Amino acid sequence: MTHTPIVELLSSDSIHQEFTVKGWVRSFRANQFVALNDGSTINNLQCVVDFENTDPALLKRITVGAAVAITGTLEESQGGGQRVEIKVKEVEIEGDADPEELKKTILSPKRHTLEKLREQAHLRVRTNTFGAIMRLRSKLSFAIHEYFNKNGYYHAHTPIITGSDAEGAGEMFRVSALDPENPPRKEDGTIDYSKDFFGKETNLTVSGQLEGETYALGLGKIYTFGPTFRAENSNTSRHLAEFWMVEPEMAFCDLDGNMDLAEDFIKYVINYALENCQDDLAFLEERQTKEDQSKPAAERAAMPLREKLHFIVDNNFKRVSYTEAIDILRNSKPNKKKKFKYPINEWGADLQSEHERFLVEKHFKCPVILFDYPANIKAFYMRLNEDGKTVRAMDVLFPGIGEMVGGSQREERLDVLKEKMAALDISEEELSWYLDTRKFGTCTHSGFGLGFERLVLFVTGMTNIRDVIPYPRFPGHAEF
Ligand code: 4AD
Ligand code: MG
Repeated sequence: MTHTPIVELLSSDSIHQEFTVKGWVRSFRANQFVALNDGSTINNLQCVVDFENTDPALLKRITVGAAVAITGTLEESQGGGQRVEIKVKEVEIEGDADPEELKKTILSPKRHTLEKLREQAHLRVRTNTFGAIMRLRSKLSFAIHEYFNKNGYYHAHTPIITGSDAEGAGEMFRVSALDPENPPRKEDGTIDYSKDFFGKETNLTVSGQLEGETYALGLGKIYTFGPTFRAENSNTSRHLAEFWMVEPEMAFCDLDGNMDLAEDFIKYVINYALENCQDDLAFLEERQTKEDQSKPAAERAAMPLREKLHFIVDNNFKRVSYTEAIDILRNSKPNKKKKFKYPINEWGADLQSEHERFLVEKHFKCPVILFDYPANIKAFYMRLNEDGKTVRAMDVLFPGIGEMVGGSQREERLDVLKEKMAALDISEEELSWYLDTRKFGTCTHSGFGLGFERLVLFVTGMTNIRDVIPYPRFPGHAEF
């Protein structure tokens, strides 16, 4: 490259040497001080222009948002704000940014709400907040691959277009190449999908798990990390219609091993962020603290961001059975005072996010792994316990987030699995390939799915999942 990243220069000792930097102007003060950002770090590089010897027409074009190439020498800074700065020899404008036009955008230098920034998601990555979030997102993604690679897992690319519904929830986006105005029809008038592109009905995947299982039963330990899609009408701050999921799957591993992995894995990637994203975390921590000042005490973060992350890394997650959790919830204050929207009366109730958050934030005050759920509120593939009514499921619950991870030990017994599928009306024919894994060398195996955006939400201290993915998709929104 013909230019040096700002992140390198800010820690460089090559005083008096000449460098070229390229980036976008964040501010231009006193016709002299350019704050330049190139996205390599949250920190700007100060470039000092010799305005008396610079063409005034050129100076006029150094405006907020413009893309510039600056060549000059690196010098120890006279001012207090920074260690080094560039003494400018030459400025070249690569792309102007008309101040009048820019005023109408979120790049104008004043405070904009997160909602406003979301409307201009194509520009928001040039703000400090979104630069920090998206750098963290990238680093966390890398840490995930690093963790699995270091621990002997293979990355399996499971299909995005699928003919199966892994979760059996039926909330899928159809993939079709048929003419929607005039689709081919069968004699009874229904649409004839045998004439569609794949010769059958297909959807966007809700999870790579089922295909992932087939790969674990050959490669031993695998993980998938890809986009997943859910057409559920959940307009919450923790749901997206398109989100990324990390799904490890391990042969010869039971639920305890699965819980151990989930805990170790989450701690590893959070610690990676603490060690490698200090500047961005410091910025986001300050941002959160400032924002909290305008919130009622009950809504404020319990700890500063980095302290919260250290707390996760340094403490054990609490492991609690569903049955124990129900007892705690049933006897809890909010339940007795009828504060829950969904009161907990009996064993078997599905846990709502208000219950999960009570357990994590009020009762245990740490991440909680709930396990052994009632069979009838969980997916068909989870291993039935000896009691005949619970399954070897686990959810990892996080403060401020609720469910971060959902997983289970898988039902490896062919007869039990078939019975379960029959009871739920799941076609054996359609899943014959899945059943083959139970016919030929079936074994104890387990896995889980971690919602990547929920992890990013937790690590950045943001409060809306729509702010931690570049272009969020949710009901009514698929802009860009
Ligand atoms: O609990 P879920 O539905 O589990 C599965 O899909 C399993 N097949 C995973 C497996 O065992 N391999 O989803 C897993 C995680 C949730 O815990 C949550 O973090 C996230 O995916 N998630 C969502 N994240 C954002 N938006 C949504 N609509 C989400 N739905 C689930
Ligand atoms: Mg779940």
